[in-house]
Amino acid sequence: MAKIKMLNSTVGYDLAAAEYDKKEKFLNSFEQNKVVPLFGELKGKQILDVGAGTGRLALALHNIGAKVTALDVSFEMLKVLKDKNNKIETVVGEAQNLPFEDNSFDFVTAAFLVVHLKNPLSFFDEAFRVLKDGGKLIITNINQKEPPEVKTKQGKIKIESYYHRPEKIIEGLESLAFTIEKNIFVYENDIWINQIVVATK
Ligand SMILES: C[S@@+](CC[C@H](N)C(=O)[O-])C[C@H]1O[C@@H](n2cnc3c(N)ncnc32)[C@H](O)[C@@H]1O
Repeated sequence: MAKIKMLNSTVGYDLAAAEYDKKEKFLNSFEQNKVVPLFGELKGKQILDVGAGTGRLALALHNIGAKVTALDVSFEMLKVLKDKNNKIETVVGEAQNLPFEDNSFDFVTAAFLVVHLKNPLSFFDEAFRVLKDGGKLIITNINQKEPPEVKTKQGKIKIESYYHRPEKIIEGLESLAFTIEKNIFVYENDIWINQIVVATK
């Protein structure tokens, strides 16, 4: 049997983009509608969605009044987002080197991104820098020990990913002077499947 290729996020998600939205229900099940309400009133608020992909979260936030900037390493994922809604600004870029000025956003968010970062701290550090004082970082950290197989038109692939213990995520954020407001767990059959963290600058 042919070995399944392990690809980095840029190459992997460019290949996976056309099929990605088929997984929307599955992805939503890791959040159980707990993420969007954490933002509160969003009219006129500036949000940076990092690893925004095809806009699953970015579109929901845009639809309730936020001004959303969607950043991703994958051009093809953002292209799917743009085809759905061209009012959301899209930026091809790297979570660990955000191309924005200091103190620019009311919120930075990242759903299903941290699992793809070997060193989430360098992303958290960048998020802290681009957040306004009092701004919030809202992230999710899924309990995924091994990269799953992903079906693409070119065959099955795997995309590099890394397991992060929830307490390490909290320690890392606190070491950068974030204040933890919420540390929520989503469970399935008594096992945590997703950690949702709200941290304030
Ligand atoms: C599992 S998808 C999540 C997409 C979207 N946030 C959602 O909730 O459906 C992960 C996304 O993170 C992007 N990504 C992975 N590593 C990244 C990095 N270092 N910087 C920016 N984006 C990254 C991938 O290209 C992909 O679009």
